[in-house]
Amino acid sequence: MTSDDLIQEAAEIIRKSKNLAVLTGAGVSKESGVPTFRDALDGLWVQYDPAQLATRQAFQENPKLVWDWYQYRRGMVGEATPNPGHYALVVLEKRFPDMVIITQNVDDLHEQAGNTHIIHLHGNLAANKCVANCQGTPTPIDITQLEWDEDNGPPSCPYCGEHVRPDVVWFGEMLPTDALEKAIVRSEQCDVMLVVGTSGLVTPAANMPRYAQQSGAKIIEVNPDYTMISQIADVKLDGPSGQVLPKLVEALEADA
Ligand code: OAD
Repeated sequence: MTSDDLIQEAAEIIRKSKNLAVLTGAGVSKESGVPTFRDALDGLWVQYDPAQLATRQAFQENPKLVWDWYQYRRGMVGEATPNPGHYALVVLEKRFPDMVIITQNVDDLHEQAGNTHIIHLHGNLAANKCVANCQGTPTPIDITQLEWDEDNGPPSCPYCGEHVRPDVVWFGEMLPTDALEKAIVRSEQCDVMLVVGTSGLVTPAANMPRYAQQSGAKIIEVNPDYTMISQIADVKLDGPSGQVLPKLVEALEADA
């Protein structure tokens, strides 16, 4: 568990911030019961092969397998609720109204907790689109308006008949341009970046802390493990975000 001295040091850095950015990964949702991807024991990519499930080719080869897997993940996320780490970021936004959360997560737990400036780099698990983007990129599809035999996998696009797919970024796919551009600008403009719960292995998302640091920002990392980001962090707060973030906000508010 991280020391109080480090919490105080991080709070002091944040207290002086004039432009705060937060980058989150799957770790911030772990204590809400949503699996991460690479945790050694229970990460999704430990149990399943992403190449079989999270790629365009996998979907083309076996749309039902991929669709059912995302329905399974939607079920898990659907039962999840924000944890104290999410709520600590809401308190932070109240103190820093222009704060942005750049997230790699496809769940909506930051929204549920009450944060309002959120950039989703990897899409949104609850959203769907036409696999062919037949009406433009993306072609959003509201599947609650469709009827289909769920035993046969994904519904068909009501416009072109192609499959409907989850509106998330798959391996090898480009990130949503607007989200990526905004994330890069905010990373280059911030003077402090709080990086929470990411292994820092997947680019371009993992480049954001480097853009921030290269622009002179201080990097604070919250993670129980050592990661690719740890080596550039000015302060590393070891521990689960559901415990560390409330302590960080408490220290910040103590000198409010
Ligand atoms: P990972 O599973 O790669 O990393 C999760 C990180 O969270 C690890 O560094 C863990 O140590 C840390 N962690 C675990 N429990 C935690 C806790 N309670 N509090 C804080 N941190 C904790 O997940 P991401 O880094 O988010 O991409 O993965 C990035 C991307 O890789 C995902 O967005 C996904 C995946 O492929 C796409 O879907 C495109």
